[in-house]
Amino acid sequence: MDVSVRSGSIQNVDADAIVINLFQGVTEPGGATGAVDKALNGAIRDLIANGAIRGNLNQKVIVFPRGAIPAQRVIVVGLGPEEGFNLDAARQAAAAAARAARDAGARSLASVVHGGGRGGLSVADAAQAVVEGTVLGLYRYAAPGVIPREGFERQVDSLALVEFDSAKLPDVASGARVGQATANGSCLARDLANGPASVVTPTALAETAMRIAADYGMTCQVFDREQMAELKMGALLSVAQGASEPPKFIVLEHNPAGSDAPPFVLIGKGITFDSGGISIKPSENMEEMRADMSGAAAVLGAMQAIGAIGLPKRVVAILPATENMPSGTATHPGDIVTAMNGVTIEIISTDAEGRLILADALVYAQRYRPAAVVDVATLTGAIAVALGYYTTGVYATHDGLWEAIHAAGDGAGEPMWRMPLTPIYDRQITTPFADVKNTGGRPGSSVTAARFLAKFIGEHPWAHMDIAGTNWWEADLTYPKRPYYVRGNTGVGVRTLVGLLGAWNAD
Ligand code: BES
Ligand code: MN
Ligand code: ZN
Repeated sequence: MDVSVRSGSIQNVDADAIVINLFQGVTEPGGATGAVDKALNGAIRDLIANGAIRGNLNQKVIVFPRGAIPAQRVIVVGLGPEEGFNLDAARQAAAAAARAARDAGARSLASVVHGGGRGGLSVADAAQAVVEGTVLGLYRYAAPGVIPREGFERQVDSLALVEFDSAKLPDVASGARVGQATANGSCLARDLANGPASVVTPTALAETAMRIAADYGMTCQVFDREQMAELKMGALLSVAQGASEPPKFIVLEHNPAGSDAPPFVLIGKGITFDSGGISIKPSENMEEMRADMSGAAAVLGAMQAIGAIGLPKRVVAILPATENMPSGTATHPGDIVTAMNGVTIEIISTDAEGRLILADALVYAQRYRPAAVVDVATLTGAIAVALGYYTTGVYATHDGLWEAIHAAGDGAGEPMWRMPLTPIYDRQITTPFADVKNTGGRPGSSVTAARFLAKFIGEHPWAHMDIAGTNWWEADLTYPKRPYYVRGNTGVGVRTLVGLLGAWNAD
């Protein structure tokens, strides 16, 4: 999408649709909405008086100006109550308005910056949220080789952010730029996770990483099975062992200043299909296990975004990628494998494979002497039992890192909740046969998975985000609908990671 920024009055802008807003309960609109209302001879005030426009969050009403102003359509979108208005409300309202515009046949959009400068929101952050909401709300997955469904030819292809106060223009422009980069990164993550396992293979993930490296001047290394063996990545290899599809260990480094400062390391679980292996999963919903690389997808999306933004910090992404398949060569339950740091692991379930591939990635990360390590993984079904599909569970060894993730998640509209990481739970993953076993039974099984990972970290702040509940959106029955989500992968993690990396300063 073409995103531009201009100063002026939105009622004078020529576009297929202009988007203005209304807080809940407002009867005498001011600002841009008031100016448009005036140009339309009070049409919006009439609609408010008739109860047709209430300003409830994401409510949208289309008004046809019939020549009174240059725009073909006016979309009035509700922002909800002014008290408690936040970035995610701006993001949601933008998405709702963009979809209404598309449904009405608009290709070009112009919008005000919802809530810019209000309620403590900075203009740049509000502009970022409006661009993110628009791009993410208009996202549709186009499966490779599949003829696009009817209606797919309709798409909004340009968005102009219109700001009356020209002094705010530089902030609107910088926010819009970050918003576009972040939203494009999220769409990349969605495409990768929605894509079939036969298409989005470990090789395809490596090619995506190399493409990002080429686009933004990063460096990329890809290790194959033999190189993993030389590195003694026995845990990762034990998962890859049953798969014919070649596994890849991908390292993508963003270092614009060529600095040797300790980097921020991101790790993403890249299981391109999780059948469970010999501990095979039930077939119901197994097709969703093509998205078991959502962590790797989120990290790639975040890397693309920081490349596009030109973030002046050193960031290293590590993506262990393989399928988890049953076969005659697959790991047996009861096998004992040795991770890169020499820790021996008894495999109780071959379906607890995410922690195995992350183990070797966490050990590998230590060679960078990282400032911090954050991994993102669809690690356990249990996190969705604990927190549902709305909140991501976070385990952290460092309060400051947790607080930074929490704050970034709030701004991003990706709620985070801290989970316990006390060593008390280690009893559940002890075994007489090895240093550790890869499952801890049903009680607290998201916690024991995190405790397993903790056996492979170094002396650096570390956080683990379990996105197995939040990576996928079907029908948001239990929570208010978020109009920037469509069925399939949500892209969760990308916006939080971009915000976190922007805010993080090693102490
Ligand atoms: N990829 C799954 C977790 C998952 C489940 C993600 C549902 C998304 C939706 C993971 O590899 C897994 O199978 N975990 C097991 C662990 C168990 C065997 C200890 C689980 O959660 O049941
Ligand atoms: Mn599994
Ligand atoms: Zn898995």
